[in-house]
Amino acid sequence: MLKISLKKTDFAQTKAELSIVFVIDKNLKHPWIELKTLKEFDYKGEGLFLDQQNKTLYAGISPYNADMMREVSAQVVRYIKKTPFKNAKIGIYGDGEMNKAMFLGLLLGDYEFYQYKTKPNPAALNEIFIAHESFDKAPIAPLGKILDMVEVIASGVNLARDTINTPPEYATPVFLADLAQKIATNNHLECKIGDEKFLKKEKMLAFLAVNRASSHPPRLIHLSYKPQKSKAKIVLVGKGLTYDSGGLSLKPADYMVTMKADKSGGCAVLAIIDICAKIGVEAEIHAIIGATENMIGGNAYKPDDVLFAREGKSIEVRNTDAEGRLVLADCLSYAQDLEPDYLIDFATLTGACVLGLGEYTSGIMGHNEALKSRFEALALQSGELMARLPFNRHLAKLIESKIADVCNVASSRYGGAITAGMFLSEFIRPQYKDKWLHIDIAGPAYVEKEWDINAFGASGAGVRAGVEFVLDVAKRG
Ligand code: BES
Ligand code: ZN
Ligand code: ZN
Repeated sequence: MLKISLKKTDFAQTKAELSIVFVIDKNLKHPWIELKTLKEFDYKGEGLFLDQQNKTLYAGISPYNADMMREVSAQVVRYIKKTPFKNAKIGIYGDGEMNKAMFLGLLLGDYEFYQYKTKPNPAALNEIFIAHESFDKAPIAPLGKILDMVEVIASGVNLARDTINTPPEYATPVFLADLAQKIATNNHLECKIGDEKFLKKEKMLAFLAVNRASSHPPRLIHLSYKPQKSKAKIVLVGKGLTYDSGGLSLKPADYMVTMKADKSGGCAVLAIIDICAKIGVEAEIHAIIGATENMIGGNAYKPDDVLFAREGKSIEVRNTDAEGRLVLADCLSYAQDLEPDYLIDFATLTGACVLGLGEYTSGIMGHNEALKSRFEALALQSGELMARLPFNRHLAKLIESKIADVCNVASSRYGGAITAGMFLSEFIRPQYKDKWLHIDIAGPAYVEKEWDINAFGASGAGVRAGVEFVLDVAKRG
């Protein structure tokens, strides 16, 4: 990870190969801004401009807010990585929230996935100095604390990104279980790994059906973090489809590509518990991941099958590509046995959610309006885009089955994200309905182009929002 060093010198005194100067709201009047050259090159404070002579990179931030600060900081890192500069310095802008946004943008913007390139071309940039000109007035401690926290969050997000980006033949359910075990060992967490035998014993027959045609065995991963002081018990559930071919309802070739990212929900909850344990939050956290592939073969589960889920309900399968909800139904059932105060699942569940909200926004569903709004506000504060999608009684009818208790696909293609959420709701017990949220991250989890603070590929969607929520629960219950 890029090194960020706090320097007890003012901006001018701090030595670096390159200066980074933010231009706030196109205001070019600032002691660090060399007006003469900017006028010469007609730079008006929008976008990036490298003043070669003065070795200064100007970056416009407008409107001036934490989201733009984060995004522009990421752009700055990407730009410098294309140059031979080995280090650069930045001054301090704004309050703690702005500093946090800047650090996050720098560290998350630096991420690239080149593990599988035989000739990687690493950038020269390795360190950024933060020149705090008035350390005596504003002591280094708060800034140092913010940086420590951001470094933990960024390495968690980047761990999720790396895991999601890992090809499906490597990142199998057993690989995810091994990773969970490592995270547990590093943070002194409890780690329970359930294999096929365990899933049979637990009557998780919907989960097992999805796995049947895969040559990789399934795993139910359960990590728990139990601090001495705890305000509440939060149970997180993640969809961990290490590959989704669609099964016998096979995906068209173009839609199958990127389905290694169908484990993004599982990777997100692994990262959230890793980050929160490192921070030492005062809330009990459980992370449950249903890890399997959805493949084809002579033993594959079929459209027309009826499955018996752990909650005791029967499911008519009409499309084997709606597999995530089957795995989640059984994992949510297992999760409720832990008696959570909050139950939140993260899943790349539907293409419909991407159609509805666009590639950059996750959908928040559930029965508790206040809880949905709270999560939405915290997600936005963390820098993730999320929006609420409302359940309604008319859509509920679309997943009725003539031959079983519920059908795994709706009878209409309209409202697919919501009907998938309402399918999950069928497996939530009455006393947990108001404690449960479903987060559909299908859009932002994996985008095949650079956007915001994200490189091509996995973004780590859900991680920052989830951490923000846990921190809020640890504060307010
Ligand atoms: N993993 C997919 C959803 C998905 C689509 C995630 C695009 C990321 C990007 C999920 O298992 C799926 O295939 N859902 C189907 C459901 C349908 C059969 C009701 C879908 O969305 O088409
Ligand atoms: Zn699918
Ligand atoms: Zn899927």
